[in-house]
Amino acid sequence: MTAVTLQHIYKTFAQDTASGQRGVAAINDLSLKIASGEVLAVLGPSGCGKSTLLRIIAGLTQPDRGEVFYDQDDLRDIPPEQRGVGMVFQDGALIPHWIAERNIGFFLFLRHREDELPERITRISQITGFGLETLLERRPGQLSGGERQRVAVARALARDPRVFLFDEPFSNLDARLRAHARVELKRLLREFPVTSVYVTHDQVEAVALAHRVAVMRAGRIEQIDTYQALYYNPINLFVATFIGTPTINLFEGSVEDHRWQGMHFGGFPIRTDLPEHDKVILGVRPEGILLTGDEGVPASVLSVMPYFPERFNLIEVDGGGEQWHITAPLETVVTPGETVHCALDPEAALYFDARTGQRIG
Ligand SMILES: Nc1ncnc2c1ncn2[C@@H]1O[C@H](COP(=O)(O)OP(=O)(O)O)[C@@H](O)[C@H]1O
Ligand SMILES: [Mg+2]
Repeated sequence: MTAVTLQHIYKTFAQDTASGQRGVAAINDLSLKIASGEVLAVLGPSGCGKSTLLRIIAGLTQPDRGEVFYDQDDLRDIPPEQRGVGMVFQDGALIPHWIAERNIGFFLFLRHREDELPERITRISQITGFGLETLLERRPGQLSGGERQRVAVARALARDPRVFLFDEPFSNLDARLRAHARVELKRLLREFPVTSVYVTHDQVEAVALAHRVAVMRAGRIEQIDTYQALYYNPINLFVATFIGTPTINLFEGSVEDHRWQGMHFGGFPIRTDLPEHDKVILGVRPEGILLTGDEGVPASVLSVMPYFPERFNLIEVDGGGEQWHITAPLETVVTPGETVHCALDPEAALYFDARTGQRIG
């Protein structure tokens, strides 16, 4: 297994615009250390540089500046055939006119080790519980989307990768297939631990598969930590709003007499060194606002959305110009138009500088 280290990576692409070419910074001073055997998930909005990051780690794209190391070795000094990178893309990228067996065994064939292939395929099938053997004679066009992605995973694994890179591999599958594929992959990664980077836009997938999650924005890593830490301890508004579904509630307010005061909620003690009247945004996740009897802030119910597997109702309310979401137990019966009363749990409140978005409490 291999630790992967990135040091101050920069990558700019020239892009054509109406007024000529301009440089787009796809990766902007990114440093990262992935431990040997770690699975790192990468989340971030479209265009933030996730695929470019993977290609740089794979050695497929040269950074303008900065270094990539596999253990102690600079990636530029490792010949491509010794890098041992297994990649799985969104569309599988299988060779269309080859049967699955040849696709899976490609690297073993190259190294004249094709006699190892049947045993590997059996082993992968055993671990995933998925009948890979039944697909071996088929070409990619004769496989379903889910089957193609499993063949792509098997192909990447069959070559004994040092580093496993996934670029939204299951994003084209429907939710049920995606859940299956995720469980199989989790089993595979437990059996064959490989240092992995997993780009996804599915937070459930990130939580399920990864030890740590990196949140990217505009070519940088904003925060990297366990999902739980990102959820409860985001360093800024971007991470706070990006992580967590349903999304965190935000309330505008200011510092008044060392307390945070908003339009409806307020009176919560806040860091004492903040200047009076400073604008501060309070963030609270939907489970941090509670429905109270008839005390608390009155608000009118806009919508009620049951989340059966998670056992809650997501209730959207309007309190005289401010709107927020509450997660209440499924048994809570409220109807749109009804007035409810809400209290905000100050323990669940996160405070952000309204100007910079940085977390301040
Ligand atoms: N080969 C390329 N040529 C020009 N621009 C590119 C190229 N690859 C990526 N980009 C640009 O770099 C930025 C990051 O792209 P990408 O890494 O694909 O983002 P993501 O995978 O997060 O959606 C985008 O603005 C994209 O348009
Ligand atoms: Mg991408």
